[in-house]
Amino acid sequence: SNGATTADARVESVTDTPDLSTTAAKIADLRARFDEAVVQPEKIAQQKQHAKGKMTARERIELLVDNGSFVEFDEYVRHRTTAFGMDRNRPYGDSVVTGIGTIHGRTVAVYSQDFTTFGGSLGEVSGDKIIKIMEFALTSGMPVVGILDSGGARIQEGVLALSKYGEIFKMNTRSSGVIPQISIIMGPAAGGAVYGPALTDFVIMVDKTSQMFVTGPDVIKTVTGEDVGMEELGGAYTHNTRSGVAHYLASDEDDALDYARTLLSFLPDNNMAELPGYAADFDWETTDADQRLNTIIPDSPNQPYDIHTVIEHVVDEGDFLEVQPLFAPNIVIGFGRIEGRSVGIIANQPSQMAGTLNIEAGEKASRFVRFCDSFSIPIVTLVDVPGYLPGTDQEWTGVIRRGAKLIYAYAEATVPLVTVILRKAYGGAYIVMGSKQLGADVNLAWPTAEIAVMGGQGAVNILYRGEIKKAEENGEDVAAVRTRLANEYTYSVTSPFLAAERGEIDGVIEPANTRVAIAKALRALKGKRADLPPKKHGNIPL
Ligand code: HXC
Repeated sequence: SNGATTADARVESVTDTPDLSTTAAKIADLRARFDEAVVQPEKIAQQKQHAKGKMTARERIELLVDNGSFVEFDEYVRHRTTAFGMDRNRPYGDSVVTGIGTIHGRTVAVYSQDFTTFGGSLGEVSGDKIIKIMEFALTSGMPVVGILDSGGARIQEGVLALSKYGEIFKMNTRSSGVIPQISIIMGPAAGGAVYGPALTDFVIMVDKTSQMFVTGPDVIKTVTGEDVGMEELGGAYTHNTRSGVAHYLASDEDDALDYARTLLSFLPDNNMAELPGYAADFDWETTDADQRLNTIIPDSPNQPYDIHTVIEHVVDEGDFLEVQPLFAPNIVIGFGRIEGRSVGIIANQPSQMAGTLNIEAGEKASRFVRFCDSFSIPIVTLVDVPGYLPGTDQEWTGVIRRGAKLIYAYAEATVPLVTVILRKAYGGAYIVMGSKQLGADVNLAWPTAEIAVMGGQGAVNILYRGEIKKAEENGEDVAAVRTRLANEYTYSVTSPFLAAERGEIDGVIEPANTRVAIAKALRALKGKRADLPPKKHGNIPL
Protein backbone atom coordinates (compact mmCIF):
# COMPACT_ATOMS: atom_id res chain seq x y z
CA SER A 1 0.00 0.00 0.00
CA ASN A 2 1.22 3.52 -0.51
CA GLY A 3 1.56 6.40 1.90
CA ALA A 4 -1.66 8.06 0.90
CA THR A 5 -3.74 5.43 2.67
CA THR A 6 -1.94 6.17 5.94
CA ALA A 7 -2.47 9.90 5.42
CA ASP A 8 -6.18 9.41 4.88
CA ALA A 9 -6.42 7.29 7.98
CA ARG A 10 -4.70 9.98 10.04
CA VAL A 11 -6.90 12.79 8.76
CA GLU A 12 -10.07 10.79 9.14
CA SER A 13 -9.45 9.16 12.49
CA VAL A 14 -10.90 11.03 15.44
CA THR A 15 -9.80 8.63 18.16
CA ASP A 16 -6.15 8.65 17.16
CA THR A 17 -5.42 12.40 16.94
CA PRO A 18 -1.69 12.98 17.48
CA ASP A 19 -0.57 15.48 20.09
CA LEU A 20 0.79 18.46 18.12
CA SER A 21 0.71 20.98 20.93
CA THR A 22 4.47 21.61 20.93
CA THR A 23 6.70 23.12 18.29
CA ALA A 24 8.94 20.08 18.41
CA ALA A 25 5.96 17.83 17.74
CA LYS A 26 4.88 20.01 14.81
CA ILE A 27 8.33 19.84 13.26
CA ALA A 28 8.43 16.08 13.82
CA ASP A 29 5.02 15.87 12.15
CA LEU A 30 6.29 17.88 9.16
CA ARG A 31 9.22 15.49 8.82
CA ALA A 32 6.94 12.47 9.02
CA ARG A 33 4.64 13.94 6.40
CA PHE A 34 7.53 14.82 4.11
CA ASP A 35 8.80 11.27 4.48
CA GLU A 36 5.37 9.97 3.60
CA ALA A 37 4.79 12.41 0.74
CA VAL A 38 8.21 12.34 -0.89
CA VAL A 39 10.75 9.91 0.55
CA GLN A 40 8.69 6.70 0.66
CA PRO A 41 6.83 7.15 -2.66
CA GLU A 42 10.16 7.97 -4.30
CA LYS A 43 11.53 4.60 -3.19
CA ILE A 44 8.56 2.80 -4.74
CA ALA A 45 8.86 4.90 -7.90
CA GLN A 46 12.53 4.00 -8.18
CA GLN A 47 11.77 0.29 -8.06
CA LYS A 48 9.13 0.60 -10.77
CA GLN A 49 11.03 2.90 -13.12
CA HIS A 50 14.48 1.32 -12.71
CA ALA A 51 12.96 -2.05 -13.63
CA LYS A 52 12.08 -0.46 -16.97
CA GLY A 53 15.51 1.14 -17.38
CA LYS A 54 14.05 4.58 -16.67
CA MET A 55 14.62 7.23 -14.05
CA THR A 56 11.94 8.59 -11.75
CA ALA A 57 10.42 12.03 -12.20
CA ARG A 58 12.55 13.41 -9.35
CA GLU A 59 15.76 11.72 -10.46
CA ARG A 60 15.34 13.31 -13.87
CA ILE A 61 14.94 16.74 -12.29
CA GLU A 62 17.97 16.18 -10.06
CA LEU A 63 20.09 15.42 -13.12
CA LEU A 64 18.69 18.35 -15.07
CA VAL A 65 19.32 21.05 -12.48
CA ASP A 66 22.50 22.00 -10.62
CA ASN A 67 23.31 19.67 -7.75
CA GLY A 68 20.97 20.14 -4.81
CA SER A 69 19.31 23.26 -6.25
CA PHE A 70 15.82 21.81 -6.71
CA VAL A 71 13.00 23.29 -4.64
CA GLU A 72 9.81 21.29 -4.97
CA PHE A 73 6.38 22.93 -5.10
CA ASP A 74 3.07 21.36 -4.15
CA GLU A 75 4.34 18.03 -2.89
CA TYR A 76 1.29 17.84 -0.60
CA VAL A 77 -1.31 18.31 -3.32
CA ARG A 78 -3.83 15.46 -3.62
CA HIS A 79 -6.65 14.78 -6.07
CA ARG A 80 -10.30 15.03 -5.06
CA THR A 81 -11.82 12.49 -7.44
CA THR A 82 -14.20 10.04 -5.84
CA ALA A 83 -15.46 7.95 -8.78
CA PHE A 84 -14.02 4.49 -9.55
CA GLY A 85 -12.79 4.10 -5.98
CA MET A 86 -10.29 6.90 -6.53
CA ASP A 87 -11.11 8.28 -3.07
CA ARG A 88 -9.28 5.30 -1.58
CA ASN A 89 -6.08 6.19 -3.42
CA ARG A 90 -5.01 9.80 -2.98
CA PRO A 91 -1.21 9.88 -3.24
CA TYR A 92 0.60 13.04 -2.24
CA GLY A 93 1.85 15.16 -5.09
CA ASP A 94 -0.45 13.43 -7.57
CA SER A 95 1.17 12.44 -10.88
CA VAL A 96 3.66 15.25 -11.44
CA VAL A 97 6.64 16.75 -9.62
CA THR A 98 7.05 20.52 -10.07
CA GLY A 99 9.40 23.20 -8.80
CA ILE A 100 12.36 25.39 -9.54
CA GLY A 101 16.10 24.77 -9.71
CA THR A 102 19.14 26.30 -11.30
CA ILE A 103 20.98 25.34 -14.48
CA HIS A 104 24.48 26.83 -14.76
CA GLY A 105 23.38 29.01 -11.85
CA ARG A 106 20.28 30.45 -13.55
CA THR A 107 16.80 29.61 -12.29
CA VAL A 108 14.44 27.52 -14.39
CA ALA A 109 11.00 26.10 -13.69
CA VAL A 110 10.49 22.37 -14.14
CA TYR A 111 7.67 19.91 -14.21
CA SER A 112 8.26 16.19 -14.49
CA GLN A 113 5.44 13.69 -14.91
CA ASP A 114 5.50 10.66 -12.62
CA PHE A 115 4.47 7.59 -14.59
CA THR A 116 4.32 5.50 -11.41
CA THR A 117 1.29 7.46 -10.19
CA PHE A 118 -1.80 6.78 -12.33
CA GLY A 119 0.46 6.37 -15.37
CA GLY A 120 1.52 10.02 -15.11
CA SER A 121 -1.98 10.86 -16.34
CA LEU A 122 -3.10 14.44 -16.11
CA GLY A 123 -6.06 15.18 -13.88
CA GLU A 124 -7.46 18.33 -12.34
CA VAL A 125 -4.87 18.79 -9.61
CA SER A 126 -1.81 17.59 -11.52
CA GLY A 127 -2.95 19.92 -14.32
CA ASP A 128 -3.19 22.77 -11.82
CA LYS A 129 0.30 22.02 -10.52
CA ILE A 130 1.71 22.32 -14.04
CA ILE A 131 -0.26 25.49 -14.75
CA LYS A 132 0.91 27.00 -11.45
CA ILE A 133 4.59 26.43 -12.21
CA MET A 134 4.14 27.73 -15.75
CA GLU A 135 2.50 30.89 -14.41
CA PHE A 136 5.29 31.28 -11.87
CA ALA A 137 7.85 31.00 -14.67
CA LEU A 138 6.02 33.45 -16.91
CA THR A 139 5.63 36.04 -14.13
CA SER A 140 9.22 35.73 -13.00
CA GLY A 141 10.66 35.44 -16.51
CA MET A 142 12.41 32.09 -16.39
CA PRO A 143 12.52 29.18 -18.85
CA VAL A 144 10.26 26.16 -18.35
CA VAL A 145 11.43 22.61 -18.91
CA GLY A 146 8.68 19.97 -19.07
CA ILE A 147 9.60 16.29 -18.74
CA LEU A 148 6.77 14.20 -20.17
CA ASP A 149 5.98 10.58 -19.34
CA SER A 150 2.23 10.13 -19.28
CA GLY A 151 -0.79 8.12 -20.38
CA GLY A 152 -2.47 11.45 -21.21
CA ALA A 153 -5.75 12.79 -19.89
CA ARG A 154 -6.82 10.92 -16.71
CA ILE A 155 -9.65 8.76 -17.90
CA GLN A 156 -11.47 8.80 -14.53
CA GLU A 157 -11.65 12.60 -14.54
CA GLY A 158 -13.18 13.13 -17.97
CA VAL A 159 -13.77 16.73 -18.97
CA LEU A 160 -11.81 18.10 -15.99
CA ALA A 161 -8.69 16.45 -17.34
CA LEU A 162 -9.33 17.73 -20.85
CA SER A 163 -9.90 21.28 -19.66
CA LYS A 164 -6.54 21.31 -17.87
CA TYR A 165 -4.85 20.41 -21.14
CA GLY A 166 -6.65 23.36 -22.69
CA GLU A 167 -5.33 25.66 -19.96
CA ILE A 168 -1.80 24.30 -20.39
CA PHE A 169 -1.96 24.93 -24.14
CA LYS A 170 -3.08 28.48 -23.49
CA MET A 171 -0.18 28.98 -21.08
CA ASN A 172 2.24 27.51 -23.66
CA THR A 173 0.96 29.98 -26.22
CA ARG A 174 1.06 32.98 -23.87
CA SER A 175 4.57 32.07 -22.81
CA SER A 176 5.74 31.65 -26.42
CA GLY A 177 8.25 34.36 -27.24
CA VAL A 178 8.38 35.49 -23.59
CA ILE A 179 10.22 32.61 -21.89
CA PRO A 180 12.02 29.70 -23.56
CA GLN A 181 10.07 26.45 -23.30
CA ILE A 182 11.70 23.04 -23.68
CA SER A 183 9.93 19.65 -23.70
CA ILE A 184 11.74 16.40 -22.99
CA ILE A 185 9.73 13.32 -23.92
CA MET A 186 10.69 10.33 -21.78
CA GLY A 187 7.76 7.98 -22.28
CA PRO A 188 4.44 8.08 -24.03
CA ALA A 189 2.81 11.36 -25.12
CA ALA A 190 -0.44 10.41 -26.79
CA GLY A 191 -3.58 12.06 -28.08
CA GLY A 192 -4.09 15.78 -27.72
CA ALA A 193 -1.37 15.76 -25.05
CA VAL A 194 1.26 15.97 -27.83
CA TYR A 195 0.21 19.51 -28.56
CA GLY A 196 1.69 20.80 -25.31
CA PRO A 197 5.23 19.93 -26.44
CA ALA A 198 4.42 20.94 -30.01
CA LEU A 199 3.68 24.47 -28.78
CA THR A 200 7.06 24.73 -27.03
CA ASP A 201 10.30 25.87 -28.64
CA PHE A 202 12.32 22.66 -28.50
CA VAL A 203 11.29 19.00 -28.25
CA ILE A 204 13.86 16.44 -27.15
CA MET A 205 13.01 12.74 -27.48
CA VAL A 206 14.80 9.70 -26.06
CA ASP A 207 15.60 6.94 -28.52
CA LYS A 208 13.41 3.82 -28.17
CA THR A 209 11.63 4.90 -24.97
CA SER A 210 9.54 7.88 -26.04
CA GLN A 211 6.61 8.07 -28.42
CA MET A 212 4.39 10.86 -29.63
CA PHE A 213 1.23 10.41 -31.69
CA VAL A 214 -2.22 11.92 -32.01
CA THR A 215 -3.83 8.54 -32.71
CA GLY A 216 -2.10 5.29 -31.80
CA PRO A 217 -1.43 2.13 -33.81
CA ASP A 218 -4.75 0.46 -32.78
CA VAL A 219 -6.91 3.37 -33.88
CA ILE A 220 -4.97 3.70 -37.12
CA LYS A 221 -5.46 -0.01 -37.84
CA THR A 222 -9.21 0.26 -37.24
CA VAL A 223 -9.76 3.42 -39.26
CA THR A 224 -7.32 3.19 -42.16
CA GLY A 225 -6.27 -0.45 -42.05
CA GLU A 226 -2.58 0.54 -41.87
CA ASP A 227 -0.27 -1.68 -39.84
CA VAL A 228 2.32 0.36 -38.01
CA GLY A 229 4.20 -0.18 -34.78
CA MET A 230 4.42 2.38 -31.98
CA GLU A 231 8.12 3.08 -32.60
CA GLU A 232 7.81 3.47 -36.37
CA LEU A 233 4.72 5.62 -35.96
CA GLY A 234 5.87 8.02 -33.31
CA GLY A 235 9.25 7.06 -31.91
CA ALA A 236 12.15 9.42 -31.41
CA TYR A 237 13.84 8.47 -34.68
CA THR A 238 10.66 9.05 -36.69
CA HIS A 239 10.05 12.48 -35.21
CA ASN A 240 13.67 13.51 -35.62
CA THR A 241 14.05 12.39 -39.22
CA ARG A 242 10.62 12.39 -40.88
CA SER A 243 8.11 14.65 -39.18
CA GLY A 244 10.41 17.35 -37.83
CA VAL A 245 8.42 17.36 -34.57
CA ALA A 246 11.54 16.72 -32.50
CA HIS A 247 14.74 18.74 -32.39
CA TYR A 248 17.12 16.25 -30.81
CA LEU A 249 17.42 12.47 -30.75
CA ALA A 250 18.88 11.62 -27.35
CA SER A 251 20.61 8.26 -26.97
CA ASP A 252 19.34 7.94 -23.39
CA GLU A 253 17.78 9.97 -20.58
CA ASP A 254 21.12 11.44 -19.44
CA ASP A 255 21.88 12.59 -22.97
CA ALA A 256 18.45 14.25 -23.23
CA LEU A 257 18.90 16.16 -19.96
CA ASP A 258 22.42 17.13 -20.90
CA TYR A 259 21.25 18.54 -24.25
CA ALA A 260 18.60 20.61 -22.46
CA ARG A 261 21.21 22.04 -20.07
CA THR A 262 23.53 22.92 -22.93
CA LEU A 263 20.71 24.43 -24.97
CA LEU A 264 19.69 26.65 -22.05
CA SER A 265 23.26 27.93 -21.74
CA PHE A 266 22.73 29.75 -25.07
CA LEU A 267 19.33 31.23 -24.22
CA PRO A 268 18.34 34.30 -22.24
CA ASP A 269 15.95 33.85 -19.28
CA ASN A 270 13.21 35.75 -21.09
CA ASN A 271 12.59 38.13 -23.99
CA MET A 272 13.60 41.20 -21.95
CA ALA A 273 16.73 39.69 -20.42
CA GLU A 274 20.31 40.07 -21.59
CA LEU A 275 21.84 37.21 -23.52
CA PRO A 276 24.07 35.04 -21.35
CA GLY A 277 27.66 36.17 -21.83
CA TYR A 278 30.76 34.10 -21.26
CA ALA A 279 34.25 35.42 -20.86
CA ALA A 280 35.88 34.90 -24.21
CA ASP A 281 39.48 35.38 -25.11
CA PHE A 282 38.63 36.55 -28.59
CA ASP A 283 41.45 36.77 -31.11
CA TRP A 284 40.98 39.91 -33.23
CA GLU A 285 43.79 38.96 -35.59
CA THR A 286 43.31 36.39 -38.32
CA THR A 287 44.70 33.15 -36.93
CA ASP A 288 46.34 30.11 -38.49
CA ALA A 289 43.12 28.17 -37.88
CA ASP A 290 41.19 30.85 -39.81
CA GLN A 291 43.36 30.14 -42.88
CA ARG A 292 41.50 26.84 -43.32
CA LEU A 293 38.55 28.75 -44.78
CA ASN A 294 40.70 30.03 -47.65
CA THR A 295 40.81 26.47 -49.00
CA ILE A 296 37.32 25.25 -48.13
CA ILE A 297 35.62 26.12 -51.42
CA PRO A 298 36.48 23.56 -54.12
CA ASP A 299 37.49 24.87 -57.54
CA SER A 300 34.60 23.01 -59.17
CA PRO A 301 31.22 24.61 -58.46
CA ASN A 302 29.56 21.18 -58.36
CA GLN A 303 31.80 19.80 -55.67
CA PRO A 304 30.32 19.82 -52.17
CA TYR A 305 31.99 20.53 -48.84
CA ASP A 306 30.72 20.28 -45.28
CA ILE A 307 29.29 23.56 -44.01
CA HIS A 308 29.99 22.46 -40.43
CA THR A 309 33.66 23.17 -41.09
CA VAL A 310 32.81 26.80 -41.86
CA ILE A 311 30.53 27.12 -38.83
CA GLU A 312 33.16 25.66 -36.53
CA HIS A 313 35.68 28.19 -37.82
CA VAL A 314 33.34 31.07 -37.07
CA VAL A 315 32.04 30.30 -33.56
CA ASP A 316 34.09 30.51 -30.35
CA GLU A 317 36.11 27.35 -29.65
CA GLY A 318 34.40 25.65 -32.61
CA ASP A 319 31.57 25.00 -30.19
CA PHE A 320 28.31 24.60 -32.13
CA LEU A 321 25.08 23.12 -30.73
CA GLU A 322 23.13 21.88 -33.70
CA VAL A 323 19.34 21.82 -33.54
CA GLN A 324 17.30 19.32 -35.61
CA PRO A 325 20.40 17.82 -37.22
CA LEU A 326 18.53 14.83 -38.65
CA PHE A 327 15.64 16.70 -40.26
CA ALA A 328 16.12 18.59 -43.54
CA PRO A 329 19.91 18.26 -43.31
CA ASN A 330 20.19 20.45 -46.42
CA ILE A 331 19.98 23.38 -44.02
CA VAL A 332 21.91 23.55 -40.77
CA ILE A 333 20.66 25.50 -37.74
CA GLY A 334 21.97 25.84 -34.22
CA PHE A 335 23.64 27.96 -31.60
CA GLY A 336 27.17 29.10 -31.08
CA ARG A 337 28.92 32.02 -29.41
CA ILE A 338 30.91 34.83 -30.91
CA GLU A 339 32.99 36.90 -28.54
CA GLY A 340 31.24 34.98 -25.76
CA ARG A 341 27.69 35.97 -26.79
CA SER A 342 25.07 33.62 -28.23
CA VAL A 343 24.26 33.69 -31.93
CA GLY A 344 21.90 31.62 -34.03
CA ILE A 345 23.50 30.16 -37.15
CA ILE A 346 21.57 29.30 -40.30
CA ALA A 347 23.55 27.76 -43.14
CA ASN A 348 22.86 25.90 -46.37
CA GLN A 349 24.56 22.51 -46.47
CA PRO A 350 26.14 21.88 -49.92
CA SER A 351 26.84 18.23 -49.03
CA GLN A 352 23.10 17.44 -48.75
CA MET A 353 20.92 17.84 -51.85
CA ALA A 354 23.51 20.38 -53.02
CA GLY A 355 22.15 22.72 -50.36
CA THR A 356 18.88 23.35 -52.20
CA LEU A 357 15.95 24.74 -50.29
CA ASN A 358 12.83 22.59 -49.99
CA ILE A 359 9.71 22.84 -47.86
CA GLU A 360 11.24 21.08 -44.86
CA ALA A 361 14.39 23.20 -44.90
CA GLY A 362 12.35 26.38 -45.24
CA GLU A 363 10.12 25.55 -42.30
CA LYS A 364 12.99 24.39 -40.14
CA ALA A 365 14.89 27.62 -40.75
CA SER A 366 11.84 29.89 -40.42
CA ARG A 367 10.94 28.62 -36.99
CA PHE A 368 14.54 29.06 -35.92
CA VAL A 369 14.70 32.64 -37.22
CA ARG A 370 11.53 33.43 -35.28
CA PHE A 371 12.86 31.80 -32.12
CA CYS A 372 16.09 33.79 -32.29
CA ASP A 373 14.22 36.99 -33.08
CA SER A 374 11.80 36.50 -30.15
CA PHE A 375 14.72 36.26 -27.75
CA SER A 376 17.01 38.85 -29.39
CA ILE A 377 19.63 36.31 -30.39
CA PRO A 378 21.55 37.73 -33.38
CA ILE A 379 21.44 35.62 -36.53
CA VAL A 380 24.39 34.76 -38.74
CA THR A 381 23.41 33.33 -42.14
CA LEU A 382 25.92 31.46 -44.30
CA VAL A 383 24.75 31.15 -47.88
CA ASP A 384 25.57 28.55 -50.51
CA VAL A 385 22.30 27.76 -52.21
CA PRO A 386 21.69 26.79 -55.85
CA GLY A 387 17.95 27.48 -55.56
CA TYR A 388 14.72 25.70 -54.70
CA LEU A 389 14.33 21.97 -55.16
CA PRO A 390 12.25 21.49 -58.32
CA GLY A 391 9.38 18.99 -58.54
CA THR A 392 5.63 18.38 -58.49
CA ASP A 393 5.91 16.98 -54.99
CA GLN A 394 7.24 20.32 -53.76
CA GLU A 395 4.76 22.42 -55.75
CA TRP A 396 1.73 20.35 -54.75
CA THR A 397 2.61 20.21 -51.08
CA GLY A 398 2.76 23.97 -51.00
CA VAL A 399 6.33 25.15 -51.53
CA ILE A 400 4.87 28.55 -52.44
CA ARG A 401 2.91 28.99 -49.24
CA ARG A 402 5.33 27.13 -47.01
CA GLY A 403 8.47 28.53 -48.61
CA ALA A 404 7.13 32.04 -48.00
CA LYS A 405 7.58 31.53 -44.27
CA LEU A 406 11.32 32.01 -44.43
CA ILE A 407 10.96 35.29 -46.28
CA TYR A 408 8.40 36.42 -43.73
CA ALA A 409 10.55 35.36 -40.81
CA TYR A 410 13.67 37.20 -42.03
CA ALA A 411 11.73 40.27 -43.15
CA GLU A 412 10.03 40.51 -39.76
CA ALA A 413 13.18 39.93 -37.70
CA THR A 414 14.55 42.95 -35.86
CA VAL A 415 17.60 41.30 -34.28
CA PRO A 416 21.05 41.94 -35.75
CA LEU A 417 21.36 39.99 -39.00
CA VAL A 418 24.73 39.26 -40.56
CA THR A 419 24.89 37.33 -43.82
CA VAL A 420 27.91 35.91 -45.61
CA ILE A 421 27.61 34.54 -49.15
CA LEU A 422 30.19 31.79 -49.53
CA ARG A 423 29.44 30.49 -52.99
CA LYS A 424 26.11 30.12 -54.77
CA ALA A 425 23.31 32.56 -54.13
CA TYR A 426 20.94 32.00 -56.98
CA GLY A 427 17.50 33.30 -57.76
CA GLY A 428 14.79 33.52 -55.11
CA ALA A 429 17.00 31.60 -52.73
CA TYR A 430 19.47 34.53 -52.74
CA ILE A 431 16.72 36.86 -51.59
CA VAL A 432 15.35 34.41 -49.01
CA MET A 433 18.61 33.61 -47.26
CA GLY A 434 18.97 36.77 -45.20
CA SER A 435 19.51 39.23 -48.06
CA LYS A 436 19.98 42.94 -47.46
CA GLN A 437 16.66 43.59 -49.18
CA LEU A 438 14.83 41.55 -46.53
CA GLY A 439 16.48 43.53 -43.76
CA ALA A 440 19.93 42.11 -43.02
CA ASP A 441 22.30 44.66 -41.51
CA VAL A 442 25.69 43.51 -42.75
CA ASN A 443 26.03 41.44 -45.93
CA LEU A 444 29.42 40.15 -46.94
CA ALA A 445 30.62 37.87 -49.70
CA TRP A 446 33.62 35.69 -50.35
CA PRO A 447 35.40 36.15 -53.69
CA THR A 448 33.97 32.71 -54.56
CA ALA A 449 30.41 34.07 -54.33
CA GLU A 450 28.15 33.82 -57.37
CA ILE A 451 25.09 36.00 -57.07
CA ALA A 452 22.69 35.72 -59.98
CA VAL A 453 19.34 34.62 -61.27
CA MET A 454 20.87 31.23 -62.01
CA GLY A 455 24.20 29.41 -62.23
CA GLY A 456 26.56 29.53 -65.20
CA GLN A 457 25.59 26.20 -66.80
CA GLY A 458 21.86 26.91 -66.68
CA ALA A 459 22.26 30.47 -67.93
CA VAL A 460 24.47 29.42 -70.85
CA ASN A 461 21.78 26.98 -72.00
CA ILE A 462 19.25 29.77 -72.17
CA LEU A 463 21.36 32.75 -73.24
CA TYR A 464 23.62 31.03 -75.76
CA ARG A 465 21.34 28.38 -77.24
CA GLY A 466 22.20 29.65 -80.75
CA GLU A 467 25.98 29.70 -80.24
CA ILE A 468 26.02 26.20 -78.79
CA LYS A 469 23.98 24.87 -81.71
CA LYS A 470 26.33 26.57 -84.16
CA ALA A 471 29.36 25.10 -82.40
CA GLU A 472 27.78 21.65 -82.66
CA GLU A 473 27.12 22.11 -86.38
CA ASN A 474 30.72 23.28 -86.95
CA GLY A 475 32.00 20.20 -85.13
CA GLU A 476 33.67 22.29 -82.42
CA ASP A 477 34.43 21.02 -78.89
CA VAL A 478 31.01 21.88 -77.40
CA ALA A 479 32.09 21.29 -73.81
CA ALA A 480 34.93 23.77 -74.22
CA VAL A 481 32.57 26.34 -75.76
CA ARG A 482 30.15 25.89 -72.90
CA THR A 483 32.88 26.32 -70.31
CA ARG A 484 34.16 29.47 -72.02
CA LEU A 485 30.67 30.95 -72.17
CA ALA A 486 29.93 29.97 -68.58
CA ASN A 487 33.17 31.61 -67.44
CA GLU A 488 32.27 34.75 -69.35
CA TYR A 489 28.84 34.75 -67.74
CA THR A 490 30.26 34.18 -64.29
CA TYR A 491 32.71 37.04 -64.71
CA SER A 492 30.28 39.52 -66.15
CA VAL A 493 27.07 38.65 -64.25
CA THR A 494 27.60 36.62 -61.07
CA SER A 495 30.79 38.17 -59.70
CA PRO A 496 30.41 39.43 -56.12
CA PHE A 497 32.14 42.63 -57.21
CA LEU A 498 29.09 43.51 -59.32
CA ALA A 499 26.94 43.24 -56.20
CA ALA A 500 29.58 45.15 -54.25
CA GLU A 501 29.70 47.89 -56.91
CA ARG A 502 25.98 48.45 -56.39
CA GLY A 503 26.21 48.27 -52.62
CA GLU A 504 23.97 45.20 -52.62
CA ILE A 505 26.58 43.67 -50.40
CA ASP A 506 28.75 45.65 -48.03
CA GLY A 507 32.07 44.04 -48.79
CA VAL A 508 34.01 41.18 -50.28
CA ILE A 509 36.23 39.49 -47.73
CA GLU A 510 38.86 36.80 -47.69
CA PRO A 511 37.36 33.65 -46.21
CA ALA A 512 40.11 33.58 -43.59
CA ASN A 513 38.85 36.93 -42.26
CA THR A 514 35.25 35.76 -41.79
CA ARG A 515 35.37 35.06 -38.06
CA VAL A 516 36.77 38.48 -37.23
CA ALA A 517 34.50 40.26 -39.76
CA ILE A 518 31.36 38.71 -38.25
CA ALA A 519 32.49 39.52 -34.73
CA LYS A 520 33.11 43.16 -35.67
CA ALA A 521 29.71 43.38 -37.33
CA LEU A 522 27.93 41.90 -34.32
CA ARG A 523 29.80 44.22 -31.97
CA ALA A 524 28.73 47.19 -34.07
CA LEU A 525 25.12 46.00 -34.12
CA LYS A 526 24.83 45.47 -30.37
CA GLY A 527 22.74 48.56 -29.95
CA LYS A 528 20.50 47.91 -32.97
CA ARG A 529 17.00 49.25 -32.56
CA ALA A 530 14.34 48.43 -35.10
CA ASP A 531 10.58 48.46 -34.87
CA LEU A 532 7.81 47.02 -36.95
CA PRO A 533 4.73 49.10 -37.70
CA PRO A 534 2.19 48.80 -34.86
CA LYS A 535 -0.09 45.83 -35.43
CA LYS A 536 -1.91 43.19 -33.42
CA HIS A 537 0.17 40.53 -35.11
CA GLY A 538 1.12 39.69 -38.64
CA ASN A 539 -0.28 36.86 -40.68
CA ILE A 540 2.63 34.58 -41.50
CA PRO A 541 1.71 32.07 -44.23
CA LEU A 542 1.15 28.80 -42.30
C1 HXC B 1 -5.75 7.00 -16.03
C2 HXC B 1 -4.00 5.70 -16.72
C3 HXC B 1 -4.00 6.36 -17.97
C4 HXC B 1 -4.95 7.38 -18.18
C5 HXC B 1 -2.44 4.89 -17.96
N1 HXC B 1 -3.03 4.81 -16.78
N2 HXC B 1 -3.02 5.83 -18.71
N3 HXC B 1 -4.88 6.03 -15.77
N4 HXC B 1 -5.81 7.68 -17.18
N5 HXC B 1 -4.98 8.06 -19.31
C6 HXC B 1 -2.69 3.92 -15.69
C7 HXC B 1 -2.98 2.46 -16.00
O1 HXC B 1 -4.32 2.18 -15.70
C8 HXC B 1 -2.04 1.75 -15.06
O2 HXC B 1 -2.57 1.78 -13.75
C9 HXC B 1 -0.84 2.67 -15.04
O3 HXC B 1 -1.30 3.93 -15.49
C10 HXC B 1 0.26 2.22 -15.96
O4 HXC B 1 -0.32 1.96 -17.24
P1 HXC B 1 -0.01 0.64 -18.07
O5 HXC B 1 -1.02 0.55 -19.13
O6 HXC B 1 0.14 -0.51 -17.14
O7 HXC B 1 1.43 0.99 -18.64
P2 HXC B 1 2.05 0.63 -20.07
O8 HXC B 1 1.77 -0.80 -20.37
O9 HXC B 1 3.45 1.11 -20.01
O10 HXC B 1 1.23 1.48 -21.13
C11 HXC B 1 1.31 2.90 -21.14
C12 HXC B 1 0.22 3.49 -22.06
C13 HXC B 1 -1.18 2.89 -21.72
C14 HXC B 1 0.60 3.17 -23.51
C15 HXC B 1 0.27 5.00 -21.89
O11 HXC B 1 -1.39 3.02 -20.32
C16 HXC B 1 -2.28 3.61 -22.42
O12 HXC B 1 -2.55 3.35 -23.60
N6 HXC B 1 -2.98 4.47 -21.67
C17 HXC B 1 -4.10 5.21 -22.24
C18 HXC B 1 -3.57 6.25 -23.19
C19 HXC B 1 -4.68 7.15 -23.73
O13 HXC B 1 -5.41 6.76 -24.65
N7 HXC B 1 -4.87 8.30 -23.08
C20 HXC B 1 -5.77 9.28 -23.52
C21 HXC B 1 -5.10 10.03 -24.63
S1 HXC B 1 -6.09 11.37 -25.17
P3 HXC B 1 -2.29 0.61 -12.69
O14 HXC B 1 -3.14 1.02 -11.54
O15 HXC B 1 -2.69 -0.65 -13.35
O16 HXC B 1 -0.82 0.69 -12.40
C22 HXC B 1 -5.58 12.65 -24.29
C23 HXC B 1 -6.32 13.86 -24.63
C24 HXC B 1 -5.61 15.09 -24.20
O17 HXC B 1 -4.74 12.61 -23.51
C25 HXC B 1 -6.55 16.22 -24.43
C26 HXC B 1 -5.91 17.38 -25.05
C27 HXC B 1 -6.92 18.31 -25.64
